[in-house]
Amino acid sequence: MSEAPLLIAIDGPAASGKGTLARRLAEHLGLRHLDTGLTYRAVAAAWKDGGGDGDLKDMAAELARNIDLEHLDAAALSHHSLAEPASQIAAIPEVRRALVEKQREFAAHPPGAVLDGRDIGTVVLPDAPVKLFVTASPETRARRRTLEMRERGGDISEETVLADLKRRDARDTERADSPLRPAEDAYLLDTSDKDIEAAFRAAVDYVSRAIASR
Ligand code: C5P
Repeated sequence: MSEAPLLIAIDGPAASGKGTLARRLAEHLGLRHLDTGLTYRAVAAAWKDGGGDGDLKDMAAELARNIDLEHLDAAALSHHSLAEPASQIAAIPEVRRALVEKQREFAAHPPGAVLDGRDIGTVVLPDAPVKLFVTASPETRARRRTLEMRERGGDISEETVLADLKRRDARDTERADSPLRPAEDAYLLDTSDKDIEAAFRAAVDYVSRAIASR
């Protein structure tokens, strides 16, 4: 008899630390991991590669249906220039429908998966037994993201990064379809005063308790 896949939903705004936590939790528990932000970024990249012409709504939905979630190039897709178009594309309901279906298929494979994004606990995997909502103040997130970008050789001011994050936060929380918000049964983890080790320990503690009470 095979066990049902274990599903872990992690949501939160950009640079909250959710991506690192999701990757480490997946490693720790031997589960697959999907950063769903990469799926929206992949549509944005395909759109740019195609010259960015035509009706964005129709074309983006078609591009979304052709994205292969098993082969996403995280390094290329993480580029700063794709953040803004990805966030605009993510407000298109047809794109979300196509990507959410693929995200659910990815999660359904044994032994299960950790998915991180904005709407995982509320829309993609509402029945996941383990849900985390990871936050941190905008200033903390801007500082982290600026350091990350500088380590990769980027030259950008913290003020610019903060303004970008706030613009994306507003679009993500205010959009009509699948806005960013914690699921009612999500565990809230504020990482403003925690380094990654402390945040990881807090997440493992919560996940162990949630799995034990399943
Ligand atoms: O997480 P990341 O910053 O890579 O995501 C890029 C954009 O994709 C976000 O700004 C957000 O608008 C969108 N997104 C989303 N739903 C998800 C994951 C990402 O709308 N589950």
